[in-house]
Amino acid sequence: MELLRSPAEMHRWRAGVRGSVGFVPTMGYLHEGHLSLVRLSRQRDEVTVASIFVNPMQFGPNEDFERYPRDEARDLALLEAEGVHAVYLPTAGAMYPPGFQTYVTVERLSQLLEGAARPGHFRGVATVVVKLFAAVQPHRAYFGKKDAQQLRIIRRMVKDLDLPIEIVAGETVREPDGLAMSSRNVYLSPEERAIAPLLYRGLCAAREAFAAGERDAERLRAAVREVVSQEPRIALEYVSLADDETLEEIEGRVERPALLSLAARIGSTRLIDNVELAP
Ligand code: PAF
Repeated sequence: MELLRSPAEMHRWRAGVRGSVGFVPTMGYLHEGHLSLVRLSRQRDEVTVASIFVNPMQFGPNEDFERYPRDEARDLALLEAEGVHAVYLPTAGAMYPPGFQTYVTVERLSQLLEGAARPGHFRGVATVVVKLFAAVQPHRAYFGKKDAQQLRIIRRMVKDLDLPIEIVAGETVREPDGLAMSSRNVYLSPEERAIAPLLYRGLCAAREAFAAGERDAERLRAAVREVVSQEPRIALEYVSLADDETLEEIEGRVERPALLSLAARIGSTRLIDNVELAP
């Protein structure tokens, strides 16, 4: 497995690669969610590249950049065991050298939901993903459905910028009790971890109501809130039922594919989750 630590190293390695290249961008501290994306690429692509880069640009000033969990040796062992061909681990200095001043903004989609709660976050994501794409030049890139808004922003960006890259979405991988896997789950204390599955249970309650014929958007949002509010230690930030592509909130009846998503704080940890609803 090749380790490439700068854009120049990656370009040199990439120039010698033949065949279809699949790419799994990550911020490391890998879990089954990441590895499921790696496996998708290993099935479909002749060459699989992963990246590990905790991107400072997508963290706000009061967010968890410094304490974001990191374990490069463990991550590399996991990727090697999955048969990954190369790992791109650029330094922040190599990605954002002095004088850096070019950014990618996906305008409207980045203002909603997570974008409203985390100003600048998606500008940081879109900018780093374009830079990673430029270095790796993949034919396909894999993103998890857990970060639903990120996935839609990347799809929009690839379309708008005519990037010749197929974006593949991987299913959210969950713990046996339903909690969506996330590198940030390590922040939860045992008591917080015990109540965290209520988030997915709330989403499931609304999905069941939807399957039983409920189409009123506000009643579906309320179904989520009702379950989650049973636990006073969970502070819901939002419950959204939005158009699956534009993420604009749906008022009235749900007549088209929709994304039901939420964000909540448990103690100092902010968690997100979602399910798709298809009429
Ligand atoms: O989803 C993530 O881990 C990050 O947002 C990504 C796509 C690797 C960009 O830093």
